[in-house]
Amino acid sequence: MPALTVKSLYKIFGGRADEAVRRLASGAPRAEALAGLPATAAVIDANFEVRPGEIFVVMGLSGSGKSTLIRMLNGLLRPTKGSVQVDGVELTTLKPAALRKLRREKISMVFQHFALMPHRTVLENAGYALEVAGLPKAERRERALEALRMVGLEEWADNLPHDLSGGMRQRVGLARALAAGTDILLMDEAFSALDPLIRREIQDQLLELQAELGKTIIFITHDLNEAMRLGDRIAVMRDGRIVQIGTAEEILTDPANDYVAQFVADVDRTRILTASSVMEKPHHVLDVSAGPRVAAKVLRESQTSVVYVTGPMKRFLGTVTEDEVLRALREGRQNLDGYVSTERVRTVTTDTTVADLFADCAESQHPVAVLDDRGRLAGVIPRITLLSALASATPDVASMVEESAEQPADQPDDKATDQPAQSEVELVAAKGEPA
Ligand SMILES: Nc1ncnc2c1ncn2[C@@H]1O[C@H](COP(=O)(O)OP(=O)(O)OP(=O)(O)O)[C@@H](O)[C@H]1O
Ligand SMILES: [Mg+2]
Repeated sequence: MPALTVKSLYKIFGGRADEAVRRLASGAPRAEALAGLPATAAVIDANFEVRPGEIFVVMGLSGSGKSTLIRMLNGLLRPTKGSVQVDGVELTTLKPAALRKLRREKISMVFQHFALMPHRTVLENAGYALEVAGLPKAERRERALEALRMVGLEEWADNLPHDLSGGMRQRVGLARALAAGTDILLMDEAFSALDPLIRREIQDQLLELQAELGKTIIFITHDLNEAMRLGDRIAVMRDGRIVQIGTAEEILTDPANDYVAQFVADVDRTRILTASSVMEKPHHVLDVSAGPRVAAKVLRESQTSVVYVTGPMKRFLGTVTEDEVLRALREGRQNLDGYVSTERVRTVTTDTTVADLFADCAESQHPVAVLDDRGRLAGVIPRITLLSALASATPDVASMVEESAEQPADQPDDKATDQPAQSEVELVAAKGEPA
């Protein structure tokens, strides 16, 4: 079951809200639909599910409706229309007392400017939600200390907020939400007021905490890079509507419309796209039990100088080159065992980012081998493929690649350096078993 389900959710501020919803439901653009009505449509027909343990980012420009949306998720704002379910409980019809109980037990919120109480210690601030909930002092203390430990502020427990930097205060806010022990965290621009370096640090800390705690986090930001860094999935909002939901990679490679495409145009793709999105199908793969004559045939037919070899459970073992196949043939071997080398080809994993591929591609004599989480060969990346992938990311590189394509001799692809058809391997193989 999803941790949170939102269906056909609307929030209209101002008058004649029902008429506004009726007109917007047809899909008309906001300005057109609301013409002549005294209404502002902050959220229009939002639909999504958030899975338990997921960081779901809502991203959009100022005024696109993010805060209004997140405030409807914990009942701080009542929707004009639609449904919000938390762990299967319909929130929009709950009575105020039941709503408060649900907020206390299931959903915590961290705001951009987290208001700490100046005359209370860091510990008391962190345990505030527990105090409101009426927990005994000893238990409050224990849980608040544990939360402060998680955000690295245990030693500051007895200080007052004014002793802390902005980043530390924001971490107290996070600690307060963690101390409450709810499964769902709502974070509205929680890091947006921080300096870039501090912000990055606290993002890292959130990701580390998340790996340990597995909370369900709805994180709001107008910063695309933050969204891409943190989000398992990202919902892009524009003028009150969610225009796309997907992983960072999906949004980059397949934007739903021109707006999203423009929005993500400046993102450093090389840090988002992974090996799995640029790799190619490996054509010349053999099991280690294959004979050298088969290997020779593959080399000849695929016009390449290297074969990728796999072993038991299809695990990647390494490569054999023409020379080794030749040697195996001469030595009368029945298989490639003992001829496989791990030297010539670098290996990466499917989730290696393109940015991290460059060094491996540069240092690998042949296309880099991409392995899945079980060590199987998922694909290969020739250098030219990496360059083409980059080309679609940055126009400068595009023209460089085009130029180099006009001069085949400069192509760094292994095919360019391959032997002509009548190679020595072929001659030996054609003669049959060597003497
Ligand atoms: N209480 C309110 N009364 C009237 N209009 C409101 C109210 N709250 C928000 N709005 C309007 O709803 C729209 C969405 O506002 P919202 O605060 O949700 O956007 P946001 O994406 O969070 O923006 P920001 O990035 O600036 O925080 C805006 O046009 C805003 O002016
Ligand atoms: Mg906002």
